[in-house]
Amino acid sequence: MTRYFTEENSAETVISRFASCPDPRFRQVMESAVRHLHAFVKEVEPSPEEWRQAIDFLTATGQKCDDRRQEWILLSDTLGVSMLLETINHRARDGRTEATVLGPFHVDGVGVREMGYDICRDGKGEPCLVSGRVADAEGRPIEGAVLDVWQTNGAGRYDVQQPGEQPPMNMRGKFVTGADGRYWFRTTKPVSYPVPTDGPVGRMLDATGRHAWRPAHIHFIVTAGGFEPVVTHIFVRGDPYLESDAVFGVKESLIVPFVLEEDGGDGPEAGGGPPAWTAEFDFTLAPAAR
Ligand code: BEZ
Ligand code: FE
Repeated sequence: MTRYFTEENSAETVISRFASCPDPRFRQVMESAVRHLHAFVKEVEPSPEEWRQAIDFLTATGQKCDDRRQEWILLSDTLGVSMLLETINHRARDGRTEATVLGPFHVDGVGVREMGYDICRDGKGEPCLVSGRVADAEGRPIEGAVLDVWQTNGAGRYDVQQPGEQPPMNMRGKFVTGADGRYWFRTTKPVSYPVPTDGPVGRMLDATGRHAWRPAHIHFIVTAGGFEPVVTHIFVRGDPYLESDAVFGVKESLIVPFVLEEDGGDGPEAGGGPPAWTAEFDFTLAPAAR
């Protein structure tokens, strides 16, 4: 057995250098990364030009990042890694609402609104009433649950993608449930939209023959004292991209029928009014791990 690096012993030779790593978890991560990387190179046998291309792609991915753009997360999203992590870390249990990707367009500091508030501030899109209940696994309503909600405008763009063009905090709001656990707010029917394609990830999607579209959805973060928060979306039933979401975010339990109601949807506020789409979705939270 040689003490020097060979094609056969490559991974083990590198891994042996981690023997003095003081953090066992970090050592496990590094060993696994090296084992998988070496197996990848042995399977693919990249030429020097191909390796250069790979390095250029990764470099460009980092260079595309700034305070408002995170191309690395977009790469993780479009390779299904974000969803795999999300699924492993929030395994479905106790009937709690399934989680999906946060995405890059969440904004902190959105104000709490009255129930029934219309989060659409630019008048684009088709009116929609979204309502439901937040409850625990036994169906008991949760009072004081906070629903942080955001979506694109009717043209399929988030306010932060069009600063100066859309009103600030357009299509965003926070709602707090009362004793009955119910929530309702007005918005517009969500539309499908493409993830940003003006960077290396867009070129990767193009080169692999993939589209960039996400099916229409509304984002939610639902939090309540004593319960695990849930980061999720609801999706519009019938959307053409449900089975080919560019970031693999769809879970069957999150697909909701959006129904056009001629009287505006009576919803919990029983207001009626001009025709509107209506959607109902109940959230189930699991107790926080102690
Ligand atoms: C989003 O739904 O906002 C999103 C998620 C992942 C990547 C890009 C956008
Ligand atoms: Fe989104």
